[in-house]
Amino acid sequence: MSETTTTPRQTVKTVLEVRNLHKTYGNQEVLKGVDFTVGSGEVKVVLGRSGSGKSTMLRLMALLEPLDAGEVIFKGKRIGVDANNRPVRERALARQRSEIGMVFQRFNLFSHLTVMQNVTLAQRLTRKAGAAEAKARAAEMLDRVGLGSHLHHFPSELSGGQQQRVAIARALVLNPSVMLFDEPTSALDPELVNDVLAVMEQLAADGMTMVVVTHEMSFARRVGTDVALFDQGVLVEQAPPEEFFTNPQQERTRNFLRHIH
Ligand SMILES: Nc1ncnc2c1ncn2[C@@H]1O[C@H](COP(=O)(O)OP(=O)(O)O)[C@@H](O)[C@H]1O
Ligand SMILES: [Mg+2]
Repeated sequence: MSETTTTPRQTVKTVLEVRNLHKTYGNQEVLKGVDFTVGSGEVKVVLGRSGSGKSTMLRLMALLEPLDAGEVIFKGKRIGVDANNRPVRERALARQRSEIGMVFQRFNLFSHLTVMQNVTLAQRLTRKAGAAEAKARAAEMLDRVGLGSHLHHFPSELSGGQQQRVAIARALVLNPSVMLFDEPTSALDPELVNDVLAVMEQLAADGMTMVVVTHEMSFARRVGTDVALFDQGVLVEQAPPEEFFTNPQQERTRNFLRHIH
């Protein structure tokens, strides 16, 4: 039952889902019971003010942090915990995480490694790929993000936009079933934003399942299959872009949209 969601257009297989997600830091309840589903090939764009809990949701979905309550379900199976509801061991956790690609606002490339070395490293750590295989795959993914001619550059020789595209390639080499993007263009100079968005748009066109936290409204409209608003730890509203932007149902959504226009 939980594996499919029915939309008017088609039946989409669920790739990643969170149910009743709760997270508290100190005495601040940051996520207050979030339900969120991403179907195969969907691009879910998440909007919301700073501090509303967007990054926390992504980190919990990617198993980068333990959750207080709720479930993360990947391809129909609960992940992060075993059959007895105990946290899985580090090794199993690493395997589960590697199926979920994540791209952050800050790219965090290793400055002493070349582009190629940055992208091959993760594969060799998590998948034990052979050197030749890892290199071939890295070259293919770097080509895909438009950096096929920069394999032997160091991060400091690249623009922020190029570095972010390396970070995207680094996630893609692990062959994730879903990619989570947390404000991937927020740290970039304005003239570099579009190159990164273009790579993401191409990924979406190629059928990648994606969750994108962003403030780029034109991207949300153009590429999102759905747009969701987060506010104070809850998912306020979610709808296809046309509906979300032109006919929002919730006062909080209308209020948010007024402030960005
Ligand atoms: N590791 C943490 N420790 C303590 N508080 C945190 C931590 N991470 C996030 N928070 C707090 O949780 C709230 C939501 O943060 P975040 O998920 O980063 O929101 P957003 O991504 O929407 O800006 C903020 O008030 C933030 O200060
Ligand atoms: Mg954030």
